[in-house]
Amino acid sequence: MSSEVTVETRNLTKKYNGLVAVDNLNLSIRKGEIYGLLGPNGAGKTTAILMLLGLTEPTSGQCSVYGFNPVREPLKVKSIIGYLPEKIGFYEDLTAKQNLKFTANLNNIERREAQERINEALQKVGLKDHADVKVGKFSRGMKQRLGIANVLIKKPRIAFLDEPTQGLDPKWINETLKIFSDLSRREEMTILLSSHLLHQVQQICQRMGIMLNGKLVVQGTINELRRTKGQSWIVEAEVGEIKPDLLKKIKEMEDVKGVKSSRNTILVEGKRDLRPEISKLIIENHVPLLGLRAREVSLDEIYMKYFREA
Ligand SMILES: Nc1ncnc2c1ncn2[C@@H]1O[C@H](COP(=O)(O)OP(=O)(O)OP(=O)(O)O)[C@@H](O)[C@H]1O
Ligand SMILES: [Mg+2]
Repeated sequence: MSSEVTVETRNLTKKYNGLVAVDNLNLSIRKGEIYGLLGPNGAGKTTAILMLLGLTEPTSGQCSVYGFNPVREPLKVKSIIGYLPEKIGFYEDLTAKQNLKFTANLNNIERREAQERINEALQKVGLKDHADVKVGKFSRGMKQRLGIANVLIKKPRIAFLDEPTQGLDPKWINETLKIFSDLSRREEMTILLSSHLLHQVQQICQRMGIMLNGKLVVQGTINELRRTKGQSWIVEAEVGEIKPDLLKKIKEMEDVKGVKSSRNTILVEGKRDLRPEISKLIIENHVPLLGLRAREVSLDEIYMKYFREA
């Protein structure tokens, strides 16, 4: 990965009437990097991508793609970006190949070259045998794969992929992730993708950001974000009985973030592993302690928390 910044946004903001869809977004993505934008429905991922493509105008702030301004130079920007939209649209009466030819023409790709790229792309996404089938007859996943082929034939320097694996079966999820991670490694393609799926993003992205209500609430490398899990521990104590008095005392302990109880279990979220203090308190309160476990809060749980907040 080079140090050259290819996508940059500064306080990028989009408001729809009263609603702030993207709120002062600051992104900086390097050449050859795969950056994953995560977040719940309505977080602002698609809106951010549309502004970078010059398809919708920012309300305030700036963005640039390879030094081009999407507002002032939308055609330049579009010419270097491969875009996989959230809702893919193809001409249903045309075949897969004809649809790709249409894209090739729009991008002034010479006929012979186009032919080669189309065949190669169809092969990659497993649609070689469906090249001459009308897209109207394609399944959801096949259309998605054709959308990926549509990005590939452009051989773009940069790709914006809005939920690239939606509708794909597990085999094609893996293939798709592999296609793009190879392109980033071998061709230094810069990739910005949006997703809801932490696991997929973890597999291929060097960095990711979590958006919530238009704001980027967390950003970092996967390892940096994993390390944040050390900030929270869950202690699970199985007890003979639940005494409200005991729960109150636990809540008041230092480094405790929250306490929950159900049946015979007390769940304590703390800033560190609080097993010694908690077990002591339980025994001092003459409650039988039947079991005690502690674990670090995973990145998954942190991620899910943002969904609950949405
Ligand atoms: N054209 C529009 N007019 C008005 N509001 C819009 C428009 N497009 C998006 N919004 C609003 O902006 C917010 C962000 O939407 P956006 O589509 O960017 O979210 P998203 O993160 O892509 O969500 P999803 O995961 O569902 O695709 C939402 O509240 C949405 O209702
Ligand atoms: Mg979206």
